[in-house]
Amino acid sequence: MDNKKFRKHAHQLVDWMADYFEEVEDYPVKPDVQPGDILKQLPDEAPVQGESFEAIFNDFKDTIVPGMTHWESPNFMGYFPANKSYPSVLAEMLTATLGAQCMSWLTSPAATELEEQVMEWLRQAIALPKPFTGVIQGTASTSTLCALLMAREQVTDFEVNENGFPNDDTFTVYCSSETHSSIEKDVKIAGFGRQNLRKIEVDDDYAMNPKALEETIRKDLKEGLKPTAVIATTGTTGSTAIDPLKEIGQICSKYEIFLHVDAAYAGTALLLPELRWMNEGIEHADSFVFNPHKWMFTNFDCSAFYVRDEALLVRTFEIMPEYLKTPEDERVKNYRDWGIPLGRRFRALKLWFVLRSFGLEGLKEKIRHHISLAHTLKEEMEQNENFELMAPVPLNTICFRFHPNYIDDEKKLNELNQKLLEKIQQSGKLFLTHTKLDGKYTIRIVLGNTNLEKRHVDRAWKLIRELAQNMMA
Ligand SMILES: Cc1ncc(COP(=O)(O)O)c(C=O)c1O
Repeated sequence: MDNKKFRKHAHQLVDWMADYFEEVEDYPVKPDVQPGDILKQLPDEAPVQGESFEAIFNDFKDTIVPGMTHWESPNFMGYFPANKSYPSVLAEMLTATLGAQCMSWLTSPAATELEEQVMEWLRQAIALPKPFTGVIQGTASTSTLCALLMAREQVTDFEVNENGFPNDDTFTVYCSSETHSSIEKDVKIAGFGRQNLRKIEVDDDYAMNPKALEETIRKDLKEGLKPTAVIATTGTTGSTAIDPLKEIGQICSKYEIFLHVDAAYAGTALLLPELRWMNEGIEHADSFVFNPHKWMFTNFDCSAFYVRDEALLVRTFEIMPEYLKTPEDERVKNYRDWGIPLGRRFRALKLWFVLRSFGLEGLKEKIRHHISLAHTLKEEMEQNENFELMAPVPLNTICFRFHPNYIDDEKKLNELNQKLLEKIQQSGKLFLTHTKLDGKYTIRIVLGNTNLEKRHVDRAWKLIRELAQNMMA
C-alpha cells in the first residue's frame, strides 16, 4: 500500500466508522454465533502473497463485524462499559499514525510532558489531594499490581527486589469479599500467595466491614505475620458498593499498612462534587486507580494510576541498562520506570482530546445524566411488585431480580433469573450480565454508554418485563 492508496482507504474507513457509530444500535448487540463459527471462516494459514485492501476490508465487514459483541451499542448494558467518544477515537488514529514508543522522555518528549500535564488536570478534576502524581497504565489490574509491588518493597525495605521473599516471614494483604478478582490475581503474581489474601466480610450494602478488617489485622499481627497492604474498593464490580475509606484509612495509618484504592469504574464519578464523599479518607491512601477507559469516554486502554510517593514507585521499578541511559535522565520523568512494561503507547493524547473536547462541565453533564437515568429506572423497578432490587444504587448500576410474589424458593429464583438473562441475551436486543450477591443470582444493568438516552433505557426495561412475563405464561 502506498501513500496514495493509504489516503483513499483511510477515507473509506472513516466513512465506515461514522456509519457504524450511527447504525450500531440497530445491530444485534450480541452476535448469533457458536464457539468456532468465526474460526471456521478463517484460512488455516497466513496468505503467502499480499492481498488487496478491498478483500481484507470486505472480510472485516462480512466475517468479523457479524461476530462482534457491540460494546459501542447503547443496548449494551452489561459488565461495566468500555465507553468511548469521537474525540478519543480520532486521537487514537493519530497515536497509531505517530507510532511513538513512549518509554522515556527522549523517545517522545511531548508524549511524556502531555501525560504529566493531563494526569495533573485529572488529579485536580477528581479532587485527589497533593502530593498524588499520576501515570497512565493499561488496566486497573496492572495498576493494582504496581501498588502491591510498591507495598511489598516498602515493607521489606526493597529486600524482595534484591533477594526475593524472606523464608521466615509471611506478608498479608486485605480486601473485601466483594473485591474484583484482579486483586487475587495480582496477589498471586506479586508473590504474596493467595492463602495470604484475607477477604474481609461485607455489611448489608456489600461494603467492607472495617471492624472485621481491624480484627483480622490484629489476629495476624498476634500470629507474627506482617500485614502489608489493604485494597479498598470505591464501586465494587458486583454492585458498586463503596467501601468506607475513612475508617479503613484510619486503620491503615494506625498499623502502618499500605492502602490502595481501586476505583476502576466509579472513580469517574469523583468529577462530581456531590459524590466526593466517596473519597473521604483519601488522605490515608498510598495509591489510587480509576479507568477513564470505563466511564470517561476514552477508549480502551487508559488506566489512571496515582501514587503518593513517586520515589517509592520509581525505586520499585527502576532499572538502568546502558542502552536506555539518556543525557536528560536527571531532569525528566522516564515513565518506563513507573510501571511494568518498558514500551508504552501514547495514551495521553486521547485523554487530552477528551478533556478538551468535553471540558470538565461536559463530562459532568454526561455522568449526571447516566446517574439520573439509573435512579429513574430504579424507582420504576421499586414500584413493580414482580421485581426486587438486590443492592443500593449509589451510581448507575442497578442490581435486580425477577421475583414474582408466589415464588419464595431461593433455588427456583436463581434458576428463573438465570433463564431470564439467557432470554435477554438471545434476544440480541439487549446485553446484560449477572453476579451473585449473598448467594442470590442477580442481574446487573449498567447505564454508562456514551450515547445512552432515556428511550434506550425505557426499551430495555420494557423488554425485561415482557420476557419475564412470557416465562410465567
Ligand atoms: C472494581 C474493579 N477493579 C478492577 C477491574 C479490572 O479492570 P481492568 O480491566 O482495567 O484490569 C474492574 C473491572 O471491571 C473493576 O470493576
